[in-house]
Amino acid sequence: MKIAVLYKSNTGNTKKYATMISKELMCKAYDITLTDKKALYQYDTIIYGGPVIIYKIKKLRQAKRLCKGKKMIIFACGGNPGIEEEIRKIKNTNIPNNEYPFFYLPGGLNFAKQKGIFKFGLTLVKKWIEKKQERKEKYDKFLKSFYEPISYIKEENIIDLISFVNTL
Ligand SMILES: Cc1cc2nc3c(=O)[nH]c(=O)nc-3n(C[C@H](O)[C@H](O)[C@H](O)COP(=O)(O)O)c2cc1C
Repeated sequence: MKIAVLYKSNTGNTKKYATMISKELMCKAYDITLTDKKALYQYDTIIYGGPVIIYKIKKLRQAKRLCKGKKMIIFACGGNPGIEEEIRKIKNTNIPNNEYPFFYLPGGLNFAKQKGIFKFGLTLVKKWIEKKQERKEKYDKFLKSFYEPISYIKEENIIDLISFVNTL
């Protein structure tokens, strides 16, 4: 099996996991924004990872196009620490028919690293949350991330994905 990791990352969390996975599997990791079909020609299996933005895995469609005819394994890197209901929703939104093996890797939240429309959108959401005390309590962690980055990244989070790949 000739395998590589392909990823998209806005604030660096997915890139950290892509790097960890590629080190563990001793294979290359490619940033999708700098990669074309030719670069991936030599691989038969691709692990694609992207950040979750409103339940959707970024650049998944592009990744599928680049990996046509290859085996794919997909991981989503989100801002929740591993909430089952959220993970199920992310999976159902992106891989509704179990077409690909799927893993959720908890990334984190970093407001300072957001740019453009994401920064603007998050500021609006923050204002909306702050209008009500009950929302402030419910989204406490999210609000804190505006002042201090949150990271859930740990080496052990990739264990299941690596074990799966080793069964192929
Ligand atoms: C506009 C926006 C929407 C987001 N939506 C979700 C979401 O629906 N579910 C989730 O778990 N995380 C969500 N996140 C958090 C990101 O997925 C998380 O920060 C991720 O680790 C970013 O990965 P990156 O650093 O590789 O870009 C959102 C972040 C932003 C900026």
